[in-house]
Amino acid sequence: MIEDDFIPLPYRFDKEQGRVQWKAPSNIALVKYWGKKQNQIPANSSVSFTLDKCRTITSVAFTKLDKPNKEFSFDLLFEGKSREDFKPKIVTFFKRIEKYIPFLRSYHFSINTSNTFPHSSGIASSASGMAALALCLMDIEKQMVSEIDPDFFYKKASFLARLGSGSACRSIKGNLVQWGEHNEIIGSTNLYGIPYPYPVDEVFKSYQDTILLVHKGQKSVSSTVGHDLMHSHPFAQNRFVQAHDNLIRLRSILAEGNLDDFIEVVESEALTLHAMMMTSIPYFILMKPNTLNIIEKIWEFRRTTQNHLCFTLDAGANVHLLYPNNEKKEVNKFIKEELIAYCENGQYICDRIGFGAKKM
Ligand code: DP6
Repeated sequence: MIEDDFIPLPYRFDKEQGRVQWKAPSNIALVKYWGKKQNQIPANSSVSFTLDKCRTITSVAFTKLDKPNKEFSFDLLFEGKSREDFKPKIVTFFKRIEKYIPFLRSYHFSINTSNTFPHSSGIASSASGMAALALCLMDIEKQMVSEIDPDFFYKKASFLARLGSGSACRSIKGNLVQWGEHNEIIGSTNLYGIPYPYPVDEVFKSYQDTILLVHKGQKSVSSTVGHDLMHSHPFAQNRFVQAHDNLIRLRSILAEGNLDDFIEVVESEALTLHAMMMTSIPYFILMKPNTLNIIEKIWEFRRTTQNHLCFTLDAGANVHLLYPNNEKKEVNKFIKEELIAYCENGQYICDRIGFGAKKM
């Protein structure tokens, strides 16, 4: 498909008003997206686990305006409170998608959004937030277009979400989601995320993700700035090749349930992401001392037990602990006894792999 395939044929905005509501999950990348081209096109392909409990719930009530407005007309409540500071991001999103969602200036929207994870936990809410909003807009479009095939509905929702935040396109459908053109992955595209198209061993279908909240404050450098720094990064080209190769490696690892190799790819990806930040100009460090303390503890735990606990990181200090469901008991004991001490206010979130967004 090409971008223009997402421009709908003209349709009448014949709904006076209505309301839709969706919940969309967060996701955690195994192979990281870091670096992008114009129009939210990723520099390399990536793959992620969809989460289950960490979600954004968004409702959009819409009312037809007497005539189309010059400015986008909307108000926004986040966790019950009006948030003017969130509005510019929505305006940027609407500008990027208005070519594909033609009714945006013809309605007033009341957007009401909240997260199931604690606010300012340092967990990126842009992925789940943009995914939920994109799904709401698609749902409104569906009410005005006579027929939208379900497969196209989800593809376009992922396409729109990507224009809001790249990783959001992986928060729509599926438990493992791949995004970005890759010559050895069938159906892969830069335009939207696809459910991972190859066999995945049962062990990964109930994988656990415990998120240790090491630092709950605002990140010092946004992802957008980080992506930009890859343009002039001395190691960028090698990094993009490495991500491509890691996706090839993962194919047999996921099919066979090879946990030792899974750990190697996932931890190497996390450390490479942060190595890119540390070696860009300007350079920056998003890990905190406790991030490293946790990593060392995990490695020690693996050396002394037969467990398969590993870590991954987002663009922040928090640590995602990934492990198979059948090792949950020992790992949870270890988390409580050894790792909670490194979390801000002892806070952590127990999540697991989930299955994508849902209409409410
Ligand atoms: C480190 O999707 O937040 O989480 O497209 O600028 O909104 P924008 O970036 P964003 O980048 C996320 C990067 C990452 C890795 C990943 O999720 O693949």
